[in-house]
Amino acid sequence: MLTNKSILITGAGGFIGSHLTETLLENGNQLILIDNFNDYYTGKEEQLNAILNKYDSKNFRLIKGDLLHKKILDGVNSNVEVIFHLAAQAGVRYSLNNAAEVAQNNIVSTVNIFEFGRICNRIEKIVFASSSSVYGNPIYTPLDEEHPKNPISPYAVSKLCGEHYADYYYREYDLPITSLRFYTVYGPRGRPDMAIRKFFEAILKEKEIVIYGDGTQLRDFTHVSDIVNGLILSAEKDNSNGQVFNLGCSNPISVNDLVEKLYAIAQKTKKLKFVEKQKGDVDVTYSNTEKAKKLLAYVPKVQIDQGLKTQFEWQRKILSN
Ligand SMILES: NC(=O)c1ccc[n+]([C@@H]2O[C@H](COP(=O)([O-])OP(=O)(O)OC[C@H]3O[C@@H](n4cnc5c(N)ncnc54)[C@H](O)[C@@H]3O)[C@@H](O)[C@H]2O)c1
Repeated sequence: MLTNKSILITGAGGFIGSHLTETLLENGNQLILIDNFNDYYTGKEEQLNAILNKYDSKNFRLIKGDLLHKKILDGVNSNVEVIFHLAAQAGVRYSLNNAAEVAQNNIVSTVNIFEFGRICNRIEKIVFASSSSVYGNPIYTPLDEEHPKNPISPYAVSKLCGEHYADYYYREYDLPITSLRFYTVYGPRGRPDMAIRKFFEAILKEKEIVIYGDGTQLRDFTHVSDIVNGLILSAEKDNSNGQVFNLGCSNPISVNDLVEKLYAIAQKTKKLKFVEKQKGDVDVTYSNTEKAKKLLAYVPKVQIDQGLKTQFEWQRKILSN
C-alpha cells in the first residue's frame, strides 16, 4: 500500500478519482488533486469536498483547473513521486457526437501530464487510466492485452492514443508509465450515465429501464474498490513500467441477467423497454487478467451480487436525501 508519498491525482473529483483520493488519504499520503469539475454531470465538486472535509487539510491541496492549460501544472510541486492520470471526458456515447472535443480533452491533457512527468525529478510512477473499449468487438474472449485494437468510438480512439503516448514517453524518456484498461466500473458514486446507476435509479423512481439492443451483450462489471486496488498495486511495482494491463473482474454477465439481479435486489416488478442498439457499444467485454495477476498480484475481490447490493444501498440513500 502506498503510504507517505507525494501523489498527484487528476480527475480526483470523478467517480474513480474520488475513491482513489479517499483510499490514499486514509493511508497517510500527501495529495495534490486536480479537476476542472466539468459539466458532463453535476455534483462532483460537492462530493469531493464532502470526502476532503473528513481529512486534515495539511494532507491535500485541491486545484480547480483544466489540464488543457498546461499552466495549471506550474503550480504543482515537481517533487511528486506518483501521478495517477484519471482526468478524461468519459462516455462512449457522448464521444460519438463530440469527437473533436473528446480528442482534444483526452489527448492534450494526457500529453501535458506526461510532459510534466519529465520535469518531476523524483517521479516513480505515472499511471494512465485507459479503457477496455480500445479493443472494440472481440475476435476472441477472454481478451488478453495482445488482442487486436479495433476501437469503435472516438472515446476509445482517444484512450488508445493516450496509450501510444505512454509508450512513446516510456521508450524515449524512460518515464515509468503504466497504462491500465478498466472494464465497466461500478460502485457507490458511479457515473450517472452508466448502466447500473441509471437502471437502479429508474427502478427506485418506478420508471422503466431502457435497454439498448436485445440485452444479450456481455459486460465484465468491475467494482471500483478492485480498480482502486489495481491502480495502487501498479504504482508500487517497477515491473509494470512501460506495460499495459487489463483490470477487470473476468466474470461477465449479460445486461438481461444484470437487470434480473437489480430487480431481485430492489424487490420490484420489472418494467423494461428495448430500443435500438447504440453505435459505439461493443458486444462483449470480458477481461483476461492473468498478466495483472502475475505481475501486480491483482486479484478482484468483489463479486457482482455483493457489489450490486452496496451500490443499491448507496443509491437508495442519496435518493431519499
Ligand atoms: N468508469 C468506467 O467504467 C471507466 C472505464 C474505463 C476507463 N475509465 C477511465 O477512468 C477515468 C475515470 O473515469 P470516471 O468514470 O471516474 O469518470 P468521471 O467523469 O467521473 O471522472 C473524470 C474526471 O475528470 C475531470 N476532467 C475531465 N477533463 C478534465 C480536464 N481537461 N482537466 C481537469 N479535469 C478534467 C472531470 O471533471 C471528472 O471529474 C477516465 O479516464 C475514464 O476514461 C473509466
